Amino acid sequence: MGGSAQLIRERVRSHYQVKSPALKMKCLGSEFSNPVGIAAGFDKNGEITNSLIDLGFGFAEIGTVTPYAQEGESKPRLFRLPKDEGMINRLAFNGEGAERVKERMEAMGDVSAPISVNIGKMNQSGPEDAVKDYVKVFETLYDFPDYFVINVSCPNTPEVYDESSPERLAEVFGALQDKNKDKKPIAVKVGPDYNTEDKLTNLSKAIEVAEDQGIKAIVATNTTTDHSGLESKHGQEWGGVSGRPLEQKATETVECIYGLTDLPVIGVGGVDSAESAYKKIRHGATLVQTYTGFVYKGPSLAHEITSGLIDLMERDGYTSIEEVVGVDCKEV
Ligand SMILES: Cc1cc2nc3c(=O)[nH]c(=O)nc-3n(C[C@H](O)[C@H](O)[C@H](O)COP(=O)(O)O)c2cc1C
Repeated sequence: MGGSAQLIRERVRSHYQVKSPALKMKCLGSEFSNPVGIAAGFDKNGEITNSLIDLGFGFAEIGTVTPYAQEGESKPRLFRLPKDEGMINRLAFNGEGAERVKERMEAMGDVSAPISVNIGKMNQSGPEDAVKDYVKVFETLYDFPDYFVINVSCPNTPEVYDESSPERLAEVFGALQDKNKDKKPIAVKVGPDYNTEDKLTNLSKAIEVAEDQGIKAIVATNTTTDHSGLESKHGQEWGGVSGRPLEQKATETVECIYGLTDLPVIGVGGVDSAESAYKKIRHGATLVQTYTGFVYKGPSLAHEITSGLIDLMERDGYTSIEEVVGVDCKEV
């Protein structure tokens, strides 16, 4: 990189990154300088990973990466919901495919923060091909991320079969662990829509399967299919809802999972301020991520959240963010 580009990056980092021992978090075998990450979907093809870390995020998730390039849904497929401070998307895994992402990750060099790769299947793959799809991405990109996330919860990809059923999860986790020669941590990303007993039972079974198969964390949550209460013009477009309208549901899911397992939970959904990040952590998230908040608030969001977390911890007498995890969870 040229000298002036390096200088600009250093300026950006010194402006946006907040360094404090109080924000350090150990999780998934890595050390995080702060617990606020960029969620999957923002950097689908690994194009801007270093820049996101320069802007103060403590970690970044690349993907969802599918084995081969895929167009996704036709446009329009992404809508802002300004009155609701949310978004609806039905991108459906548009991306350049694993080989192209591999080239990017090779060129990226060392990233100064933990990174994960979120992996998905091709939209039309049925159960057997799906296992091959996940394995293909996993093997192609194996050497690069600090951990992987398996995405079985996207609400806007075609529902060829129920990917998040315990049986299917067991197959996928098992196939990946068979290829996991260096025992890289693998997490699974779940959705927020557990409005029926059956779905709740499925979530707890999925977590049992995850524990049995050596999965190391749960990412909660993906976008919701619940469009109720949305006031913006595009509120009834089909697709997954993110941002403020998802916040409470996602936090409840984080708390529910925290009560079901000792695995760390990465909380995502409606994080757009220090207060909302703090709330997720108090309700059981070890790390948090944001997407929609970043779209609305812009490049200073990670700085705003990380510096605000330090103030909130000081106010409440905490010296480390690790002490805050789960303090508001109900006893079970
Ligand atoms: C435009 C858009 C694209 C997304 N793409 C992905 C994706 O490829 N893989 C994934 O696991 N989640 C994806 N998500 C979901 C986010 O990672 C996150 O789980 C969700 O948006 C909730 O967080 P937020 O309220 O901070 O946006 C996407 C979200 C949006 C808004």
